[in-house]
Amino acid sequence: MSASITALTPAFGAEIIGVDLTLPLDASTRDLIVDTMNHFAVAVIRGVTVSQDDQVAFAKNFGPLDAINGVLQTDIKRRLSADLVDISNMDEQSNILELDDRRRLFNLGNRLWHTDSSFKRIAAKYSMLHAHAIPPVAGETQVCDLRAAYDDLPKDMKEQIGDLVAVHSIFTSRALLGFDNFSPEEHALLPPICRPLVRVHPGSGRKTLYLASHIGRILDCPVAEGRLLVRDLMEHATQPKFVYTHHWRIGDTLIWDNRCTMHRAMPFDESRFKRDMRRATVMETDVAPVDDQNAVATV
Ligand code: OGA
Ligand code: MN
Repeated sequence: MSASITALTPAFGAEIIGVDLTLPLDASTRDLIVDTMNHFAVAVIRGVTVSQDDQVAFAKNFGPLDAINGVLQTDIKRRLSADLVDISNMDEQSNILELDDRRRLFNLGNRLWHTDSSFKRIAAKYSMLHAHAIPPVAGETQVCDLRAAYDDLPKDMKEQIGDLVAVHSIFTSRALLGFDNFSPEEHALLPPICRPLVRVHPGSGRKTLYLASHIGRILDCPVAEGRLLVRDLMEHATQPKFVYTHHWRIGDTLIWDNRCTMHRAMPFDESRFKRDMRRATVMETDVAPVDDQNAVATV
């Protein structure tokens, strides 16, 4: 069966039908997925659960994978392969994490609107989140359309923000939730990174906002003004008209383009239910941060 797509809205969100993640991907199906992502920015492939190896092999068709898949430095054995990010509320023995477990507190940052890895030197292109276990209710994922949000801005705002540069750090988003007990080693691993606030999305040539809760300040702008501006833009971009809500089924793979979307996890009853999600992350290898030197010590 050849693959086909069903649009969820005219410009944002699609379902890709007829792709089996356990089989080698042929060039035409790969191109269809890339074209779909360039236009719709978020897509779901439904199926059965696949192994870690199959998920990793599928993702590698789209580029090299992110190698920094753990921010927390710990001796605890990983539950998943080093190629995958563990987006679950489970420990290494697949038990539900205690509410005050450091891994859970860190992952709670996913509840804030963000784009993946904007705080790393090489940011993320596609995130591919695969559902192994889901709670019976809630625990959705929301994705917002930052190209449509940009288009919808007043002209004077577009002019005001066109050349601004934002400073991203993982420690900024975690501090928003009061989680700040990171070691010097953890800080040293991920220094702040500068990125444009507005950019051209390489896949479509359309302009887009590039926003995340990782932003702590705007370069050459007083901290308060910069943060207020980012808050206003986040509020604008996450209006319901720009948001797709994904209601999970086991075996779903949700793919989003981090270059032109933000996403967040929705709450669920974490003390009772397991939510086992595994993320393969394709890096954006063709875009460097604005200026590493500038970023240091400017969070
Ligand atoms: C992620 C993420 C949201 C969710 O995988 O990067 O933010 O709903 N996930 O789990
Ligand atoms: Mn994320």
